[in-house]
Amino acid sequence: MDQSEGGAGAKVYAARCANCHMESGQGLGKMIPSMVQSPAVLNGQGNLACLIRNGIAKDTAKVGPGMPGFELSPSELVAVINYMKNAWGNQGGEVTFAEVDKALEGCP
Ligand code: HEC
Repeated sequence: MDQSEGGAGAKVYAARCANCHMESGQGLGKMIPSMVQSPAVLNGQGNLACLIRNGIAKDTAKVGPGMPGFELSPSELVAVINYMKNAWGNQGGEVTFAEVDKALEGCP
């Protein structure tokens, strides 16, 4: 992952995600889950691209009011996923463009 891709992920996160999951990644108590040491973020691969694209419907939400879906390009999805996997002390490895692209074809 080069510097510019990391930067793109940070920008997408700041613009689209930080108002709920917070700049610190820690979320908001019981309403918004933390992204820090989150198994979903650390272990997630292409499935995270579907989650971000589709959002989480209120009636299937586990902890909060649900999450809106985001129309992000495959490269924006790769960037923001890899940003979260490695921000805030996370060590979640990386997803590849190919993994995300393939997952997007099969999103529910
Ligand atoms: C309007 C508030 C809001 C915004 C904006 C938002 N989220 Fe969420 N997100 C939530 C809520 C609430 C949940 C938990 C839903 C549930 O209860 O299952 C969640 C869940 C998640 C999860 C799953 C966590 C887990 O433990 O299963 C991930 C990953 C995630 N969000 C990533 C993102 C990313 C990336 C963005 C920006 C592109 C984003 N979110 C923007 C509210 C938000």
